[in-house]
Amino acid sequence: MAQLSETPDVPDLGRRQFMNLLLLGAAGGTVVGALYPIVKYFIPPSSGGSGGGVIAKDALGNDVVASEFLASHNVGERVLTQGLKGDPTYLVVESAGELGNYGLNAVCTHLGCVVPWNASENKFMCPCHGSQYNSEGKVVRGPAPLSLALAHADVTDNGKVSLSPWTETDFRTGDAPWWA
Ligand code: FES
Repeated sequence: MAQLSETPDVPDLGRRQFMNLLLLGAAGGTVVGALYPIVKYFIPPSSGGSGGGVIAKDALGNDVVASEFLASHNVGERVLTQGLKGDPTYLVVESAGELGNYGLNAVCTHLGCVVPWNASENKFMCPCHGSQYNSEGKVVRGPAPLSLALAHADVTDNGKVSLSPWTETDFRTGDAPWWA
């Protein structure tokens, strides 16, 4: 007696294996490489914080605690921390005991150098090609084409500093955020 034949629309083993290999090859190759930034964009950062934010880390990789941070820095200072996507991000000491409600991505919008804060000039001054940004990160001298990217800086319920994506209008220019 004849056995039931395979359903015609189910690929046989050889074809299935071939298709699996194709999928694996694609997944391991350039497709994933090309899609990675897109996929990453849609996945909120997961390392703590609220509203898609992350807890800012200090130079030692410890969470930044607002009270300790403010106690150890002077008014007007811009202090590098590790922020969204691991980017170097300045926190702003707005006034005594008060953190600015924005962080500044320290990556120069020209070619990506990390821009140091120059307290005596009250500006961020890029050592690579001379771009300058004012104390709020607005570009004031090229060749950098754009201002430093913003992030929201907030203090969480447990006193840590959270950085989250800034998707609203850039308060320095009135424009839509170029980085969003
Ligand atoms: S990378 Fe900053 S000015 Fe070129």
